[in-house]
Amino acid sequence: AYEKLWLAASVMLILLLVGSVTYGAIGPGVAMVADSEPTIDAGGLDEDERFSEPRVEQVGENEYEAYVVSFQFGFQPDPIVVPENSTVTFYVTSRDVIHGFEVAGTNANTMVVPGEVSEIKVEVEEPQEYGLICNEYCGAGHHAMEGKVNVV
Ligand code: CUA
Repeated sequence: AYEKLWLAASVMLILLLVGSVTYGAIGPGVAMVADSEPTIDAGGLDEDERFSEPRVEQVGENEYEAYVVSFQFGFQPDPIVVPENSTVTFYVTSRDVIHGFEVAGTNANTMVVPGEVSEIKVEVEEPQEYGLICNEYCGAGHHAMEGKVNVV
């Protein structure tokens, strides 16, 4: 009878391990879908209704859209503030050159190309401050290009 118990216990352990690896790969509270559309004039962002005022907008119960502009060398808005336990779709474009948009410590990560809008959907859970980093070399200030995503 003890053998069966041990067998059951080790199967449980394996399941736990597999579960934690899967969870780890997804990252803390973040799942993402990436997409991008080639539809925007990088030089005309100030006239674009989505990007002239980079911001977070509520679009449903627990659903938000964040319009983010990356530039040499930062992100707007900064910080990007989003409520806990919500789904946030980030629309990110660039004012100048290719940048990266990576929410540090998660798998939310996309390239940001001038003339295109990158889309990432993220589930955020508990209040936490995330670093936002650029992971594409974009010029002399690349190493210092960073922002914040604050889940409040
Ligand atoms: Cu922007 Cu590196």
